[in-house]
Amino acid sequence: MKKIIFFDAKPYDQEFFDRANAKHGYEIKYISNRLSADTAPLAAGYDAVCAFVNDDLSAPVVDILYNNGIRMIAMRCAGYNNVDLKAVFGRIHVGRVPAYSPYAVAEHAVALIMALNRKTHKAYNRTRDSNFALGGLLGFDLHGKTAGIIGTGKIGQVLAGILKGFGLRVLAFDRFPKTDWAAGAGVEYVPLEELYRQSDIISLHCPLTPETEYMINAASLAQMKDGVMLINTSRGALIQTQDLIDALKSGKAGFAGLDVYEEEDGYFFEDRSSEVLTDDVLARLFTFPNVLVTAHQAFFTKEALSNIAETTLSNLDVFFRGESMANEICYRCSKDSCPRQQKGKCF
Ligand code: NAI
Repeated sequence: MKKIIFFDAKPYDQEFFDRANAKHGYEIKYISNRLSADTAPLAAGYDAVCAFVNDDLSAPVVDILYNNGIRMIAMRCAGYNNVDLKAVFGRIHVGRVPAYSPYAVAEHAVALIMALNRKTHKAYNRTRDSNFALGGLLGFDLHGKTAGIIGTGKIGQVLAGILKGFGLRVLAFDRFPKTDWAAGAGVEYVPLEELYRQSDIISLHCPLTPETEYMINAASLAQMKDGVMLINTSRGALIQTQDLIDALKSGKAGFAGLDVYEEEDGYFFEDRSSEVLTDDVLARLFTFPNVLVTAHQAFFTKEALSNIAETTLSNLDVFFRGESMANEICYRCSKDSCPRQQKGKCF
């Protein structure tokens, strides 16, 4: 029986992986500590490592894993910005879960929009305190408003469909427009400046790249409608947070729904409720009544966790059978420069 060691494992990981593992039959050891140079030696004697978004897979850690016989790292997430792809290349195979539920993330974006608009988070507290007054809870009809979706991949497309159902006009911007889909979905592609100018709600669904880093900044905010609602369920560094704070202070931005934050590492996914919050930018965000922060939970549905567990274990099956892994992450493949064009058989 192959032995897998899981780092940064939470009770919900164990629940969903144990269920999925019934038909894969691995011996799994769950470790709550994150993978780091200190914890990497624990992988000695295991056949593979399973890691998550905040695990450290920098070159020194990769070296320790390799020297302890690890030849496969199964990432139980889509992102791999924490993996040193050059360090693993030619030594350790890395698999990931490219998609687990676009519905989970799109629906969470809608939850943020709805809660911010109708102030459900405030109403919940008020009625619990027997305060049944309506002052301060005034919202607006979504019907007839204009939403701008930046990035119309899997998640952006699902969101567009939901928002069309609410009767919104949906504008979109994508570096690689999907014109057939847009025509069928009744979505209009427009230049970014036009999307900024016309949208009442702007939701970010593009990846974090050098091109998109800090795309929401003082200059782009200035082009937006007064009182615009910004939703970010993608990656924190798409937004220059200090510029967003300035826009919230001036009223230029009317609402912000943030499931991701540039400096989330160290806070998100952990219970820090008994500690002093030392991040002054995050603390400032919490002072705004029209800001709703969730801790990178958009993906967190039963369906998504089941898909993550099944795909991760299937990636391991493929590796142990010695077959080509469709979900392989490789330094060359990631740059589309694989000379052999044999994804998953790069070495
Ligand atoms: P996807 O790859 O299906 O779609 C991304 C879209 O962005 C593509 O259509 C692509 O052409 C477009 N794009 C790329 N560069 C662009 C640019 N410079 N400007 C505008 N559009 C650009 O990805 P998917 O599955 O829809 O995920 C989107 C993002 O959602 C991911 O990159 C990830 O950061 C985030 N995410 C967040 C989760 C959460 O729990 N909060 C969970 C899963 C994903």
